[in-house]
Amino acid sequence: MKGIILSGGKGTRLHPLTKITSKQLLPVYDKPMIFYPLETLLAGGIKEILIIVAPDRAGDYLNLLGSGKDFGARFTYEVQDKPEGLAQAFHIGEGFVGNDSVAMILGDNIFEDDFGDVIRNFKSGGHVFAKKVADPERFGVVKFNDQMQAEKIVEKPTEYLSDYAITGLYIYDNKVLQAAKELKPSARGELEIVDLHNWYLDRNELKVSIVNGAWFDAGTPDSLFKANQFVYNKKTL
Ligand code: G1P
Repeated sequence: MKGIILSGGKGTRLHPLTKITSKQLLPVYDKPMIFYPLETLLAGGIKEILIIVAPDRAGDYLNLLGSGKDFGARFTYEVQDKPEGLAQAFHIGEGFVGNDSVAMILGDNIFEDDFGDVIRNFKSGGHVFAKKVADPERFGVVKFNDQMQAEKIVEKPTEYLSDYAITGLYIYDNKVLQAAKELKPSARGELEIVDLHNWYLDRNELKVSIVNGAWFDAGTPDSLFKANQFVYNKKTL
């Protein structure tokens, strides 16, 4: 399985912090934010990782992460010229993914759970991970039926759908490359990751698991602060 860390975007919700560097390079306690999602992929035994970055920050990433040798992995870099949606990663990364399946994680997502076994045991279809949150409208949201099977997935729903956010770790088989080609930009002009989830859901090939441990999308001042606090408490208390 290949890995992708999507670490583009302008991080505008974190201005002025992100005027000097990329959001995903900001500190979360004693490490740059991107180390956390990177460790999530490495824990699954993924050795080939594509890091997709914003054009003006590419040098920072290369300085920090290098070839990947220090991490026992091999890193490839691509530039996302414009942030036109998370699913664009599968256009940018098509050649890199080749004929393999792929685990993509967002560079600002921090998980307490270990997904090593899930990644190693993945066979086919799509597998995404949901977490009950207080502010589901900030995220892609999944509604479950009585048997806890995914019924409906909507990006940032304007009307209440459920409390379950879809977190930023996505495991797909190779069909995702084809699915990404079929996508049309949404009303906000982006290739939406939830449309890929729905592509698998429509074919009855989407598995949605619940995240047990803590999860942070550290893309806002509040969530970045909480992520720092969580890691600090875990390491020092
Ligand atoms: C993105 C996705 C959303 C997902 C979230 C997880 O939102 O579009 O479906 O729930 O990441 O972090 P963004 O944080 O880019 O607004």
